[in-house]
Amino acid sequence: MSYQNILEEIDDNILTITINRPKKLNALNRETIQELHEAFKEAKADDEVKVVIITGSGEKAFVAGADISEFSDFSPKEGKKLAAEGQEKLFNYVANFPKPVIAAVNGFALGGGLELAMAAHFRIASDNAKMGLPEVSLGVIPGYGGTQRLPQLVGKGRAMEMIMTAGMIDANQALQYNLVNHVVALDELQEFAEGIAGKIMKNSSVAIGAAIKAINANYEDGINGFETEINEFGRSFGTEDFKEGTSAFLNKRKADFPGK
Ligand code: COA
Repeated sequence: MSYQNILEEIDDNILTITINRPKKLNALNRETIQELHEAFKEAKADDEVKVVIITGSGEKAFVAGADISEFSDFSPKEGKKLAAEGQEKLFNYVANFPKPVIAAVNGFALGGGLELAMAAHFRIASDNAKMGLPEVSLGVIPGYGGTQRLPQLVGKGRAMEMIMTAGMIDANQALQYNLVNHVVALDELQEFAEGIAGKIMKNSSVAIGAAIKAINANYEDGINGFETEINEFGRSFGTEDFKEGTSAFLNKRKADFPGK
């Protein structure tokens, strides 16, 4: 499928989705959110895709936020719809994606940009990256999961401070805050992310999907994460990947997972 605002490249089972509106610092307008939804939906169904890396085009920005020009005249009802639809189509969709999603944060990740990076399963930043949730400086609050995911990652006090000050932190501070797992030079970012994707892909994709579900269950209201873990653990025993993984270990050979 061809898109106006995103680029896709698949290499060795790794799909890289690049948000491509560099003149607007890759700000997320409605069309871009819809295209990202379609791209993730296709990636879910495509057996060739084992890991997704999401990044921004250019050297300046991952994503500088939701496109402010699109919602400046919205009513409360339209604002609520914007947040609800965005969360459903993109942010929660990415967070619950059954294949690993790595955010390669290559510059500004602000507002909806940081929210998108936080919806990914983990984050790697380039050393020029800057992150923040500046929404209160615009008279609004984060609406794509930021008030929920930032405290989960950095702790309540730090999230309160970041959101209230609307300030930015640099990549090293983000590392200290556990907001990103690694910081690397900008020109090494993609290769570094692909290296981690390579390690992930040696393992059972079915088990990884189950692990994502169980880990996420800890953060969902009304769901008992331990119970989800028990159920997913039990279900693993019925998969071909489990048969292959255990038999490979016992026969002292490398596993070749069928992904079923
Ligand atoms: N929505 C819409 N357009 C945006 C945008 C956003 N979130 N972020 C940047 N842009 C646009 C700018 O309007 C500008 O467009 P123009 O050239 O047509 O005027 C272009 O991207 C370049 O941005 P500019 O502000 O000129 O770059 P800068 O280097 O001076 O500043 C930032 C970079 C990231 C500090 C600044 O763009 C910014 O503060 N952006 C908004 C961040 C934000 O509040 N995000 C949360 C939204 S809820």
